[in-house]
Amino acid sequence: MKILETKQVSKHFGGIKAIEKLDISINKGEIAGLIGPNGAGKTTFFNCISGVYPLTHGKILYKDKLISNLRADEIATLGLARTFQGIRLFTSLTVLENVMVGRYSRTKCGLWGALIKPKWAREEEDSVKEKAGAYLEFVGLKDYRNELAKNLPYGCQRKLEIARAIASEPELLLLDEPAAGMNPSEVKELICLIKKIRDTGVTVLIIEHHMRMIMEICEKIIALNYGVKISEGTPLEVSNDQKVIEAYLGRENA
Ligand SMILES: Nc1ncnc2c1ncn2[C@@H]1O[C@H](COP(=O)(O)OP(=O)(O)OP(=O)(O)O)[C@@H](O)[C@H]1O
Ligand SMILES: [Mg+2]
Repeated sequence: MKILETKQVSKHFGGIKAIEKLDISINKGEIAGLIGPNGAGKTTFFNCISGVYPLTHGKILYKDKLISNLRADEIATLGLARTFQGIRLFTSLTVLENVMVGRYSRTKCGLWGALIKPKWAREEEDSVKEKAGAYLEFVGLKDYRNELAKNLPYGCQRKLEIARAIASEPELLLLDEPAAGMNPSEVKELICLIKKIRDTGVTVLIIEHHMRMIMEICEKIIALNYGVKISEGTPLEVSNDQKVIEAYLGRENA
């Protein structure tokens, strides 16, 4: 069953065709990878899916429902969560509070209710705290819960972003270069974590330049270059595709 389908999606910035007539489909329960050289349009595509950018052309369906006419917050409440290429944590909040922020999209009171704290919102807070603690444990950050987010080592900050995203209980999780800047042992842990998330029933679409990682965890890979899909298939098929090899070599020589 398809969870995400894009039909002829284009996103132009003036004369730049960041995404051009892109058709992809992601099946429920899979880990899929999105690769391509720098500037290929990967992050722009995530911004289109998650409602950050309006499309220039085309349609996006999530669980057969049209979402490309919805706002980012509306898309998030349908069960689609993402992380960003650069770390975007609330650095002056604690680790636990960062995850609680992710959780509020699933509460009646929402984030503003939690900040203003009327009585009914305070009653929800304990359950939010408890759930947030469980997500921290899930990603292996339980011992850091009362630390300020800015004091965490880099690899842990990346994991915290993932914890915050999964705290909204998504069905589809978009990860934009989660392994960037991680050392080899952190990457190993990240691979286990992403598999563990998938095993809970979450579908994962992941942008990564870390090829060994993407080859190891993805069932399917889509390759972009200059906003256009140049290859799609199993990791083996895509890594042997001449068009993909040329796209990477071409950019390196540029
Ligand atoms: N807000 C914007 N305004 C104008 N141009 C943009 C904007 N966002 C992206 N672009 C352009 O769109 C193209 C695709 O950029 P994008 O960030 O999506 O690439 P990417 O594949 O994520 O690259 P990287 O691997 O370096 O993260 C680039 O030419 C970029 O300069
Ligand atoms: Mg990017």
